[in-house]
Amino acid sequence: MGTIKRDKGLDNTLKVMKQGYLYITNQRKRLGSENIFETRALGGKKIIVISGKDAAELFYDNDKIERSGTLPKRVVNTLFGKGAIHTTTGKKHIDRKALFMSLMTEGNLKHLRELTRNHWYMNTQKMEQMDQINIYRESIVQLTKIGTKWAGVQAPEEKIEEIATDMDVMIDSFKGLGGKFKGYKASVDARKRVEDWLEDQIIQTRKGKIFPPEGTALYEFAHWEDYKGNPMDSRLCAIDLMNTFRPLIAINRFVSFGLLAMHEHPITREKIKSDDDYAYMFSQEVRRFYPFVPFLPAKAKTDIQFEGHPIEKDTMIALDIYGTMHREDVFENPDDFYPERFKDWDGSPFDLIPQGGGDYYTNHRCAGEWMTIIIMEETMKYFAERVTYDVPEQDLTVDLNSIPGYVKSGFIIENLREVV
Ligand code: HEM
Repeated sequence: MGTIKRDKGLDNTLKVMKQGYLYITNQRKRLGSENIFETRALGGKKIIVISGKDAAELFYDNDKIERSGTLPKRVVNTLFGKGAIHTTTGKKHIDRKALFMSLMTEGNLKHLRELTRNHWYMNTQKMEQMDQINIYRESIVQLTKIGTKWAGVQAPEEKIEEIATDMDVMIDSFKGLGGKFKGYKASVDARKRVEDWLEDQIIQTRKGKIFPPEGTALYEFAHWEDYKGNPMDSRLCAIDLMNTFRPLIAINRFVSFGLLAMHEHPITREKIKSDDDYAYMFSQEVRRFYPFVPFLPAKAKTDIQFEGHPIEKDTMIALDIYGTMHREDVFENPDDFYPERFKDWDGSPFDLIPQGGGDYYTNHRCAGEWMTIIIMEETMKYFAERVTYDVPEQDLTVDLNSIPGYVKSGFIIENLREVV
């Protein structure tokens, strides 16, 4: 039982923000410590950082790890919303998670696939007339249309741009992990506007004044009762209803990463066109390869051990998300973009963890992971098969030292033409 190596310093928050997605990997290498080290951050709090597949397995063991109360307050206030499912634990979490997962029926997922395919296709004419298309920005708008339709929410065409921008402002607020975040007020304001708009639709649905189809998120959330037989408070209901489609809009990051990958590895475009399974493998590799979620927080529920190292009850723990997916012992040649690696992948819940790991129903693993893959598959197929375009000179850097990760330019294309 060795002592846990330490990244010295009273508060390494600034260092984390400066090194971004590479902070954990850098320290693991520097300290010569494979899977665990200690650091101090967020005002000098002791945090045990764990990395790798076994670390992910520990992290999703509900008997040993507590997740609630560990997310930074400002991220809850802006990104997820107060009282959102992400902040719940135990019976309450399992009860409400079942509601989210009940939306993932074969019919609803098929509908999402069709909405994605149709919306991109219907947008072709408009994009043909644009001088340049910023894929990051264009995707937000398309995904807002897809997400609101899928959720059964009423979003008039003239409001789409505004909703899309509000969503993006909220999603961007996870850059406020440490120190000051100047977009904080803008995120809080955006959240209030969207919560008001959704709460009104919950109330109207309950009063029988609007009729979203059964099976849609709006219908199911408005009519849901918890295990005690109580409906959700209308504000909380609006907050979690938003959690069924705000994160869908964040897929715009994966869309621009996907087009970047297709641009840098042109053979993948041909394979998407010729092999029915390739869009799936390609989408999985985009989610593994590019930087999105850097790490996730938790705390020890009781005195626990990891690889023989004791971790005391209530100690903060961070799971290395990005780094785990870039470890040689988890994915061979992890720095190569290689979709074929997912041909014979065993589907482990602890290695491909861009949206969390473990079990969908009992852990906090992302409720929308299947939706994300479907949207990515259809979007990548659209850009590979249905249109051609040019990629002008631009800054295609993806800066791993800065959280959240982006293609610097947003990924700009021009001369888009439909393939006839
Ligand atoms: C949870 C990422 C798309 C709904 C999460 C978590 C991550 C994540 C990291 C937390 C996992 C954990 O705490 O263990 C992403 C990314 C997405 C995405 C990167 C795509 C860009 C979606 C979509 C939905 C969704 C499309 C739509 C339903 C949720 C919900 C939770 C969640 C409701 C909370 C689950 C819980 O607390 O049990 N997501 N997500 N996400 N995600 Fe996603």
